[in-house]
Amino acid sequence: MCGIVGYVGSKQALSVVVDGLRRLEYRGYDSAGVAVVSENKLKVRKKAGKLTKLESLLGDDPLPSSTCAIGHTRWATHGIPNDINAHPHLDQDQKFAVIHNGIIENFAQLRAELEATGTNLASDTDTEVVAHLLASEYPKTKSLTKAMQQVVSRLRGAFTLVAISSEEPDLLVGARRNSPLVVGRGIGENFLASDVSAFISHTKSAIELGQDQIVELTSESIKIINFDGSDALFKEYEIDWDISAAEKGGYELFMLKEIAEQPQAVRDTLAGRINEKGILNFSDFQISDETIKEIKKVVFIACGTAFHAGLIGKYAVERWTRLPSEAEIASEFRYRDPILDKESLVVAISQSGETMDTLMAVKHAKEQGAKVLAITNTQGSTLGREADAVLYTRAGPEVAVASTKAFLTQVVAVELLALYLAQVKAVTQTSEIKKVLEDILDMSHAIDVVLDTMPQVKEIAEKYKSAKSILFIGRQAGYPVALEGALKLKELAYMHAEGFAAGELKHGPIALIEAGSPVIVIVPSLEHDPILHEKIISNIQEVKARGASVVALAEAGDEVVSLYADQVIRLPKVPSLLQPLVATVPLQVFAAQLAKVKGHDVDQPRNLAKSVTVE
Ligand code: G6P
Repeated sequence: MCGIVGYVGSKQALSVVVDGLRRLEYRGYDSAGVAVVSENKLKVRKKAGKLTKLESLLGDDPLPSSTCAIGHTRWATHGIPNDINAHPHLDQDQKFAVIHNGIIENFAQLRAELEATGTNLASDTDTEVVAHLLASEYPKTKSLTKAMQQVVSRLRGAFTLVAISSEEPDLLVGARRNSPLVVGRGIGENFLASDVSAFISHTKSAIELGQDQIVELTSESIKIINFDGSDALFKEYEIDWDISAAEKGGYELFMLKEIAEQPQAVRDTLAGRINEKGILNFSDFQISDETIKEIKKVVFIACGTAFHAGLIGKYAVERWTRLPSEAEIASEFRYRDPILDKESLVVAISQSGETMDTLMAVKHAKEQGAKVLAITNTQGSTLGREADAVLYTRAGPEVAVASTKAFLTQVVAVELLALYLAQVKAVTQTSEIKKVLEDILDMSHAIDVVLDTMPQVKEIAEKYKSAKSILFIGRQAGYPVALEGALKLKELAYMHAEGFAAGELKHGPIALIEAGSPVIVIVPSLEHDPILHEKIISNIQEVKARGASVVALAEAGDEVVSLYADQVIRLPKVPSLLQPLVATVPLQVFAAQLAKVKGHDVDQPRNLAKSVTVE
């Protein structure tokens, strides 16, 4: 949700910044813009649309060379995505340029104040007020950093800001509240960005800013203070992946690369967590056994795809720990009165670790005294800092907006968590835990097997390119898979799609079925779940009787399903709770293929952003 990048150093600042924006474009692509300081003057280029539009503008109307620059890629909140509302924003005398991620909640009041004193605001954004406020504060101290300190004290809401000024041409000043901001420490150069991918090709040395901190960068120095001017505590770390992980590596699309990377992502997430004796070894888990033994309830909170992993977590916790468990959409949980106490474990799942709805839900849970465990893919993320403990998924950078490999690793993480709780609480036989762990260790191979079905899945997808609507149904662990299949299709192919619990179909949704309606069915394992299997076969017959065209995802050797389904996509035979790890993969490919056939941008679907840092 808006990508921010800033550079100061001896290289061509503009090309460093544009290159960084390319890697941050997943955060929003409604418009893009850059500003440089050259010969003590600010120069700006900005353009509605994707970064390529800005690049063409820069080709037609180049900017002078510079050693200090900022860049922004926007996901619109205040003001439509046009050239004027694109960042950076300037003050009237064009001496201060600002980029912003978040929402300044009191902008209307600040805007009215500025207008009352004769300031003309050019855009409809909340951000622009900051540029004008910096201009009015600067003369008092002649320091951009001090002016920023004054300005942030007047802002409410979420505002991560970066500013440059023609008054101090070699200085980059950032401020962080709520949305992420990371410093890249180079040699003779320094960087600021929403995420390390923007500068990882230059340095692997990063500093994560804390809440309410201001950073002042020159090419040789990094100074970090709190909003009140006191010395700040911050965390310095080395990035443990390299640039190749964030590039397409020969694939046509990031999403296809990330789908193909799933077996490895699952292997990496398991690595070192199960010892030779088949016991879970969570050396990186910061919640003591004593605390775990006191836990009486587990609540998963998340948004989007991560919520579907939470639903699977709920089933796993119930199955293996026998504790009550719930999965909740974070934005709903946050405004309810959940029944939590210090014996509750709240598990917040988020790939980015920056989703504002999830962060706010975590705050809400902590206020009730609950312990919070984060499951995130992003080291140094806000969620990781706010939680009492973190379980990292190790999917590596996920660039495509629609989540794939991160989801599979979240499923692995929730399953491991449930088993770990069961192990510590000694509620499930060690031999059973051991057997499930053996099955989990085999999953990356099983996912490899499913990846071989891609050509068949693509063929099936193309058949449905003109469908008005596609329904997905599943039971138990197949239900979150149905939701995820439908979400992927909405996100990528812009088609109407719904996921239902198959048993619920007859209570309403079956009215949607007409001749030729596609229904995708996630079929439970015949071997592991014969009763559920029988039920879903009845559900298939019910929709077939009303003219539906059924595509079944069913395990190898399930010949019963072939009698009823129009087409069958085969899955390896795996235990029921692990089936989402194989059943989701064809649905990812299905959605990506339909999007491709329809000519959509698969990696950057319309209206979406990968990391949604506003509520
Ligand atoms: C956005 C993305 C979804 C993602 C959700 C949660 O809406 O478009 O793909 O599932 O955020 O993201 P998180 O980073 O919290 O997992």
